[in-house]
Amino acid sequence: MKGIVLAGGNGTRLHPLTLVGSKQLVPVYDKPMIYYPLSVLMFADIREILVITRPTEMPLFQELLGDGEHLGLSISYASQEKPRGIADAFRVGADHIRGEDCALILGDNLFHGAKLPTLLRRSAERLRGCVMFGHEVADPRHFGVAEVDDRGRLVSIEEKPERPRSNLAIPGLYFFDGGVVDVAKRLVPSARGELEITDVLRAYLEDGLADLVWLGRGVTWLDTGSHETLLDAGRFVRDLQHRQGTRLGCVEEIAMYMGFIGAAECHALGARMSTSPYGQYVMDRALAYRQGLPPARFLEEL
Ligand code: TTP
Repeated sequence: MKGIVLAGGNGTRLHPLTLVGSKQLVPVYDKPMIYYPLSVLMFADIREILVITRPTEMPLFQELLGDGEHLGLSISYASQEKPRGIADAFRVGADHIRGEDCALILGDNLFHGAKLPTLLRRSAERLRGCVMFGHEVADPRHFGVAEVDDRGRLVSIEEKPERPRSNLAIPGLYFFDGGVVDVAKRLVPSARGELEITDVLRAYLEDGLADLVWLGRGVTWLDTGSHETLLDAGRFVRDLQHRQGTRLGCVEEIAMYMGFIGAAECHALGARMSTSPYGQYVMDRALAYRQGLPPARFLEEL
């Protein structure tokens, strides 16, 4: 399965933070925002990843993540000239997808939960058409919202409804079969001039090929696109890390436990940042791994 991180957009809600620079490079506590969505794709065992950025900022992402080889990944880049909407990712990324299944994650979405790696891998394996996820939120009016019948099956999808039919928001993570490129090509822009992901999901739903997977209470989903939610996400990461002594979205550690790189390589990546607690952590985890902390336990622990 191919992966796409959509990391363009305007980021106007974060102005003036994003007047210069990209939202997805803004820190969420101790690491750039894009580490979090990248780590989600890694948990789904996805190694061929396209990062879509604004043209001006592509060199910064390239400097940060390179070709991904140090993480056992293959990372390529494409630019979105204008923010034409989330579904534009399938047009910009058509050459990357090349008819294969693909996962799209928005560059400002953060997920955390013990069951997440298993849930993602299972959803990818069972993909038939498309999979979206449902996450209960207190106020769903700002999101795509899924309506389900009494057996939990998906009935309809509404974009930012004033009167939501459920409290199940659809987070910015989706799995599609390779047909998504053709679906995206047929889309017409919405009233706000964007190619809407909701329209893609609806097209699959109409064909009976859309699955909704509930994330459940054990998974946390945070959007980091406003000043408030960015600070909330930073606090969440900080509190969890301090309490548990582990790190979220630590791509070097995840690469090692997923078997993409070895412990020695992971240690070397940490050593390049050894004056920071993050770098120290990466080195410590690499040493612990060498001493036999089994990867399965790590993945269950998340
Ligand atoms: P949004 O948060 O909906 O939009 P935005 O990032 O432009 O921010 P704002 O509303 O503050 O102006 O976008 C969600 C994610 O999708 C985010 O990571 C940016 C990305 N995105 C693109 O890369 N291209 C696009 O055309 C759009 C609409 C979003």
